Parts: sequence; C-alpha cells; structure tokens
Amino acid sequence: MKIGIIGLGEMGGAMMDRLLLAGSDAYGYNRTKPKAQRYVERGMKLLDTPRDVASTCDIVVTMVTNESALHAVTDGEDGILAGLTRGKYWVEMSTISPDAIRDLAKRVEPTGATLLDAAVLGSQLTVEQGHLLIMLGGPEDACERVEEPLQAIGPNVRRIGDIGHAKVMKISLNLAMPVQILALSEGVILAEKNGIDRKTALDMMLGGAVASPMLKYRAPFIMKMPEKAWFDVGMMQKDVMLALELARESAVPLPTASVANEFLTSAKALGLGDRDFAALFYALATMAGVDSTVR
Ligand SMILES: NC(=O)c1ccc[n+]([C@@H]2O[C@H](COP(=O)([O-])OP(=O)(O)OC[C@H]3O[C@@H](n4cnc5c(N)ncnc54)[C@H](OP(=O)(O)O)[C@@H]3O)[C@@H](O)[C@H]2O)c1
Repeated sequence: MKIGIIGLGEMGGAMMDRLLLAGSDAYGYNRTKPKAQRYVERGMKLLDTPRDVASTCDIVVTMVTNESALHAVTDGEDGILAGLTRGKYWVEMSTISPDAIRDLAKRVEPTGATLLDAAVLGSQLTVEQGHLLIMLGGPEDACERVEEPLQAIGPNVRRIGDIGHAKVMKISLNLAMPVQILALSEGVILAEKNGIDRKTALDMMLGGAVASPMLKYRAPFIMKMPEKAWFDVGMMQKDVMLALELARESAVPLPTASVANEFLTSAKALGLGDRDFAALFYALATMAGVDSTVR
C-alpha cells in the first residue's frame, strides 16, 4: 500500500523516518518544502499538494499543528478532499477536538473514502525508538485494514472505539502532563526555598515513587532546558484548552488542569511560549522568588 504523510514536522517527520526505514512506498507533503528535502534524499517521493497525496496514496496520514492547519490541507482545489476517492483511507493523527474529527468524517463520506480518527502516544523520541502507540477510532473493518501498514510507523496500533474516541483519549491523557510538571515544580521550589539545592531536590523527587516515566525524562530539563522544545508551551496549552472545552461540554470539572492552564499562560507571558513545557517550573519559580534564570 502507498502511504503518504501530510505534515513533516517533529512528529510527522519522525514517522516518515520509520516508514523509510521499513522500506514502505512512502510519499509526503509539507507546506514548507525545504524541510522535506532530507526525506527525499532517503527515498520519499515529495508531492506538490495535499490533493496529490490523496490521489496517489491508498492511506493518507495527516499530522499537522491544529484545526486551522488541518483546514488548510483539507479544503480548496489543492486540498485532500479534492483528491480522495472510493476505497482510500485517511488517518487523521493531529491532536484536535473530537467534534472537529466527527465533522470532518461527514465531509469525507461523499468521496467514498474512509476517515479514521487517530492519536499517537509518545514523543519524537518514542517514534525514533520504535515504541509509538497509535490509537484508532472508527469502523472495525477499516481499522483492521490500516493496522498492518501503520505498524511500520509504530508497532502498537489499537482501536479504542468509534470516530472521535481516539481524540478524546489523547486529550484526556495529555492534561496530566503539565499537572505533573507543576506538582513536581512545587515540591522542588518548596525544598529549595528551605535550604536544599535544586539539583538535590530534583534528584530526590525523581528517585522516589512520585516520578512517572514522563517526569523522569522531562523534569531534568529544569536544570538544563533543551534548545529545541520536545513539546512546547504553546502546543501543550492547545491540548489543555481542548480538554477544558470537552470538560465544559460534558460537565466534568478539571480543577488541576485549569490551574496548569493559568501557569501555561504565565509561561507565555514570560516569553517562554516556544520552550519545552518543563518551563512551567520557571513560571512558578518567578512567583516564589527563587532563581528563575532559564538554563
Ligand atoms: N511533538 C510531540 O511530542 C507530539 C506528540 C503527540 C502528538 N502531537 C501532535 O501532533 C501534531 C503535530 O505536532 P508536531 O510536534 O509534529 O508539530 P510541528 O513540528 O510544529 O509540525 C507541524 C506541522 O504542521 C504543518 N502546518 C502547520 N500549519 C500549517 C498550515 N497552515 N498549512 C499546512 N501545514 C501546516 C507544519 O508545516 P511547516 O513545516 O510548513 O510549518 C508542520 O509540518 C500536533 O497536533 C501535536 O499536538 C505532538
């Protein structure tokens, strides 16, 4: 099967690397073409428009920033909808709202193609290491059909429900990430202000039972922030806002996510919007009057 990825950013690019490694017949499109060059050199066929990807490939994967980016690659004469025909599959992996994917499914139906809701668990590193988990939402037979080709991207492909459910699960999972970073930051800053140096406090927190796998790889960023964010404050806030919106619609209070959202806003106000969201530590450090120099 021919697979095409639209959106060769951090995640889409890492996924393309996996496809090329597996020897898949891989096609790609990226709005900013020069960024796609490194994949062309390794065998990816670069196409001019999202429409070309949809008309050429059996499976189209989209991995773009947000809903407005998705509209940009979906609509118009060069958009995906213009290239889809009966029998094709479109696996939409961007983190967007469940309502947006359900609306899109209605628009795809007249083309005869099948839209599948998807979401990925893991970072660029997880993709590179070959551990990515791909959640799918949609008809069982369609999910079964795409399972094997998608395993070239991530070995764990799991249908978790109907269209919209993969986005619901992704949004529900992601809200815990800033909450955990903020809770850890509170402990480290409390210890620091009471005489324990930051590195020692962090080591103790990460050596104990409170350290989740996510905290184990991300909290060390507090001592040395990566130049290039693994997942930046802006993107993290997009996901928290999706959770807050879904929670409002379904009458579920999200008290800790709401607080984390305010600290994400505060990190943005401090000029840290494009830094990894471990920068939440610095928003709290600023308020607590401890050293808030970003390292
Ligand atoms: N990074 C992670 O750890 C992670 C993990 C799980 C899920 N996600 C989700 O995956 C999605 C992509 O994340 P990412 O980290 O790969 O982001 P990214 O590196 O910023 O890449 C975003 C991609 O979207 C494209 N794009 C943005 N606006 C566009 C527009 N108006 N028209 C066409 N293309 C547009 C970009 O094209 P250009 O190159 O031209 O800008 C780029 O290919 C997001 O929804 C994110 O929440 C990310």
